[in-house]
Amino acid sequence: MSQKEKVKEKEKKTFVDIEDLPSVGQATAEKLREIGYNTIEALATATVSELVAAGIGEKKAAEIIAAARQAIEISWVTAKDLASLRMNVGRITTGVKQLDALIGGGVETQSITEFYGEFGSGKSQLCHQLAVCVQLPVEMGGLNGAALYIDTENTFRTERIESIAKRFGLDFDEVSRRIIYAEAYTSDHQMLLLEKSDKVIKENNVRLIIIDSLTSHFRSEYIGRQTLAERQQKLNKHLHKLIRLARAFNAAAVVTNQVMARPDEFFSPAAVSPVGGHIVGHTSHTRIFLRKSVGKNIRIARLVSSPYLPEGEAVFKITENGLEDVEEDELKSR
Ligand code: GTP
Ligand code: MG
Repeated sequence: MSQKEKVKEKEKKTFVDIEDLPSVGQATAEKLREIGYNTIEALATATVSELVAAGIGEKKAAEIIAAARQAIEISWVTAKDLASLRMNVGRITTGVKQLDALIGGGVETQSITEFYGEFGSGKSQLCHQLAVCVQLPVEMGGLNGAALYIDTENTFRTERIESIAKRFGLDFDEVSRRIIYAEAYTSDHQMLLLEKSDKVIKENNVRLIIIDSLTSHFRSEYIGRQTLAERQQKLNKHLHKLIRLARAFNAAAVVTNQVMARPDEFFSPAAVSPVGGHIVGHTSHTRIFLRKSVGKNIRIARLVSSPYLPEGEAVFKITENGLEDVEEDELKSR
């Protein structure tokens, strides 16, 4: 190692724990950890008001955030020569060629992708598949990373992971070790799980954060018009935490959403709209509507909004091996 490299290595090591930041002492570090800030990456994307909530003064909060941002910049500059790739947006294959093509090569890191559709449209199956695909090596469309899986409806099944892993030639034992799972029992619990996830994301090289479903708890707990504002405010906060984690750790964020009937509205795909309305809409960057089609296992994905891709559709099928492409003649024979 050259002298220059040694210096760079040392600079990187200077900032490991949050206590390493100039304005963070032991007591402050404890306060920050209590509200879920365990890493410098998370602090770098925090807001002053969030830190103030932990009992930290406004001025100090601003100093901490600035220091965290600077610390990250230092490691980025040094990492730049070594791995500029790491800073770039990555993509995770869905395992379905048509669907990958529709969304520009796979699910993107540093942003949120929302899959919405009615029951049985394949949202959870897709989440299972992505949790495996993120583990594939880069040359096979993965990110060689782990998945964080927040399950709100208790629909995660290791059997599905086993068959999908097998299909992609991966070892089930290893694959299941790299899916970090939690069931969320309420919307508050769901929010808390995400708020406290930065350490587990960092330690496990998580490159995909899944919330299946984003809205089910919110939908069942906040009933009636008078609760709408509070629900939206919480969902908004939850999504902003998600986007900041995705950016800080260069991870993809995937959320699912059920649809509700919207008979009073103008035409929209299948006259339904996703739960959560506009706030979810503005925060999630890519939105894909899934619907059932002819035949029991055929599904259609429609790209409804994307920062830069045109609208379009893709067809796939659900089998015991997960989501797969549909061959031309398979469709014709129906
Ligand atoms: P909700 O969570 O209820 O809103 O639905 P979802 O969109 O998450 O649906 P999910 O991903 O759970 O899809 C369920 C569909 O996948 C079922 O309707 C089945 O048709 C299909 N499916 C699940 N497992 C298998 C399997 O092992 N073999 C086959 N052929 N199909 C399966
Ligand atoms: Mg589901």
